[in-house]
Amino acid sequence: MSAEGTEGRILLFGAGGQLGQALRRLLSARRDVVGLAHADCDVGDPAAVRAAIAAAAPSIIINAAAYTAVDRAEDEPDRAYAANAVAPGVMAEEARRRGAVFVHYSTDYVFDGQGRTPYREDDPAAPLGVYGASKRAGEERVAGAGGIFYILRTAWLYDRQGRNFLTTMERLGRERAQTGRPLTVVADQWGSPTSVAALAAATEGILGHAGIRELSGIYHATCGGETTWWGFAQAILEGLHIPAAVTPITTADYPTRARRPAYSVLSSARLDRVFGIHMPQWEAALRSCLQAGA
Ligand SMILES: NC(=O)c1ccc[n+]([C@@H]2O[C@H](COP(=O)([O-])OP(=O)(O)OC[C@H]3O[C@@H](n4cnc5c(N)ncnc54)[C@H](OP(=O)(O)O)[C@@H]3O)[C@@H](O)[C@H]2O)c1
Repeated sequence: MSAEGTEGRILLFGAGGQLGQALRRLLSARRDVVGLAHADCDVGDPAAVRAAIAAAAPSIIINAAAYTAVDRAEDEPDRAYAANAVAPGVMAEEARRRGAVFVHYSTDYVFDGQGRTPYREDDPAAPLGVYGASKRAGEERVAGAGGIFYILRTAWLYDRQGRNFLTTMERLGRERAQTGRPLTVVADQWGSPTSVAALAAATEGILGHAGIRELSGIYHATCGGETTWWGFAQAILEGLHIPAAVTPITTADYPTRARRPAYSVLSSARLDRVFGIHMPQWEAALRSCLQAGA
């Protein structure tokens, strides 16, 4: 990492989420970070967002807040759009007015999953559900605001704590190991599990890069390789030494309110080429996460 990059105060929205907590842990070691959780600022309220930015006077704004309930979003589009589209647009505008750098996160669910090779940043977005559409609308507003912005599209985020696929598999796996009933997990959706630690480290790498004021854009930032939810579940249980069986099922066997892409693997090659940031392979990142939390 370069010693240059952008100095000054960081204002972090969504500091209570799984990525927000990882960002706060990592960045506050070397930087002045003001973290706001949901209770501190409802990002769905543009006036509250503007007031928080004015109060903190940051040189970097990071938005880890989002409406992430993919199925519920189908029934609450207004709430999803307020948090995922309007809020980042307001933050990006404020960042531009202040000459601050804005970092925002988006999702593999902006794609329809019809592809069979890793998606690149310039592949056409075609979200299947409200969540993906609200995140895509957020990307457009951020890019349209005209300031210095980084939109990091990520996928299948997990940590050793909080509510995510890893902790759900751990809980269910321990229960099923007792009862002997197998777990059933979808095996026809492909993606790249990404640890919040790896994504937070990539974010820190961008902030420390000498070219930060010139390299605005959308970047994919997922761990390398690909697997299915079933493959990911097996790796989690193996890594935790939980002796529960995992039976593969299809998406049709497990209907959900929102449709999900069948193949949403992202290529993070641009991040590597432009910033020299190499995301770890998903299996290695999972091992690090399990070791760190052991
Ligand atoms: N999780 C994934 O698998 C995944 C995949 C692709 C992309 N992403 C993106 O990665 C980023 C981080 O996601 P994450 O996994 O860390 O999500 P998360 O754990 O759900 O955290 C999101 C945080 O935003 C907060 N929030 C929601 N609505 C808010 C509002 N109106 N005002 C203020 N705060 C609000 C939530 O608070 P409450 O809990 O109180 O609502 C939560 O603390 C998001 O941009 C997400 O879209 C995530």
